[in-house]
Amino acid sequence: MKIGIDKIGFFAPHMYVDMNKLAVARNVEPEKFTIGIGQEKMAIAPITQDPVTLAANAALMILDETDRGKIDFVIFGTESGIDNSKSGAVYVHHLLGLNPNARSIEVKQACYGATAGIQMAKGHIALNPESRVLVLGSDIARYGLNTSGESTQGAGAVAMVISAEPKIMALENKSAYLTADIMDFWRPVYSDTAFVDGKFSNEQYIHFFTTVWEQYKNKSGLELNNFEAICFHLPYTKMGLKALRTVIEEADEATQEKLLANYQSSTTYNRNIGNIYTGSLYLSLVSLLEQSEQLKEGSRIGLYSYGSGAVGEFFTGILQPNYRDYLQTKSHAELFASRTEISIEEYEEVFQQTIPVDGSTATFDATKDPATIYLAGMKDNMRQYVNKTH
Ligand code: COA
Repeated sequence: MKIGIDKIGFFAPHMYVDMNKLAVARNVEPEKFTIGIGQEKMAIAPITQDPVTLAANAALMILDETDRGKIDFVIFGTESGIDNSKSGAVYVHHLLGLNPNARSIEVKQACYGATAGIQMAKGHIALNPESRVLVLGSDIARYGLNTSGESTQGAGAVAMVISAEPKIMALENKSAYLTADIMDFWRPVYSDTAFVDGKFSNEQYIHFFTTVWEQYKNKSGLELNNFEAICFHLPYTKMGLKALRTVIEEADEATQEKLLANYQSSTTYNRNIGNIYTGSLYLSLVSLLEQSEQLKEGSRIGLYSYGSGAVGEFFTGILQPNYRDYLQTKSHAELFASRTEISIEEYEEVFQQTIPVDGSTATFDATKDPATIYLAGMKDNMRQYVNKTH
C-alpha cells in the first residue's frame, strides 16, 4: 500500500512588505535582502490572523465533504501556538466542521513539527488504511523590529491530507534523522519573539543536512543522481541553496543542472512569503510542484526538514500519475495576485498590535481581512473565531 500526500495547499495573509523598502528603512543595501538572504516580499499577519486561522484557511483550500467525514486525526505543527494547554488542532477541527470521532493534537519541535506530523500520519494510515489525516504547519515568524532576523520573518500555513493511495506524492519508507541538544534558536514561554544565534543556526542547519544525507545514502543505497529535486526547510531562500551546494558535486552535470533549476522553482513561493517555520519545507514543495515544468510521474523528490534546537530529517517521495491535476495552482496564483502591499510604517504598527493579556474584551476590525476564517476578538481570555461561511 502506498501512503503519502493526497492534497496540499497553503494560505498566507493578504498583506506584504517589499523587502527593497524594508532594506532602505533599515539602512542596508537592498541586495543584502533580495540576493544575500534571497527574499522579495514578506507576508504580514493582521491582528485578525493567528496560527489557528492561517491553518484553518489553508485547510479550506483543499478539503471536500469526503475528507471532512474521513479525517480522524488532525495534527497541528506549530512553534507559535496560541495556548500552552489546548491544541490549535481542536479549534481547526471545529472551524472546519470535521468528523467528531477524531484525534486532535499539536506537535512542537521548532520548524520540524509538521514533519513529525507527517511521520505520525503515515503510521496511522498504515494501521487504518481507510482514514485520512490532516497535517498542518502554521506559524507567524517574529524576530522583532530592527533585529538581524527581521528580514527572515513571515506568516502562513500549509495543509496536507495524508492518505493511502495518494494522488500527489507517495512517501518512501527510508528516512534518516538526528537529534542534538543545541541553542541555535528558541523562544521561552514569556517571549513573543524568538532568540536566535543566526550564524550558529546556519552552521547547524548545514551540519544536520550533511549528516542525515550521509546516513540516508547508507540506509537507502541511493545517490544524488537518483533525485529530480530536493526541497529544503527555508528560513530564507539562500539557506537551502547553501546546503545544496555542499553536496551538488556528487551528481553528474545533467543532474546538477536539473537540481539547481528545480531549486529555483522550489523557492518561488517562499521568496514571496518569507519564513513560515513549520510550513516552510512544505511551502517549498508546493512551489516546486506548481512551478517546475520538468517534473513528471515517478520523479523522486528529497525533503530536508530542520527544526532548531535541534532535529533534522531527510526523507523522500515519488510523484504519482497526473499529480498536476490535483494541485491548487490557480487558487494559489489568485491568492498571490490579490495581496496588498503595506508601507514600512503600517507594518511596524501592525507588528506592535497584540491581543489583550489581562482578560479584557476586545473586538478587532476585520473589514479589510478577506480571509474566510478570522479572529474577531477576545472575551474572558478566549479567542473569538469566525468562519464567514457559517
Ligand atoms: N549584496 C549581496 N549580498 C549581500 C550584500 C549585498 N549588498 N550584503 C550582504 N550580503 C550577503 C552576505 O554576504 C551574506 O551572504 P552569505 O551568508 O552567503 O555569506 C548574507 O547577505 C547575509 O548577510 P549577513 O551579514 O550574514 O547577515 P546578518 O548578520 O544580518 O544575518 C541571518 C543573517 C540569516 C543570520 C539572520 O537574518 C538570522 O539570524 N536569521 C534567522 C536565522 C534562522 O531563521 N534560523 C532558524 C533555523 S534555520
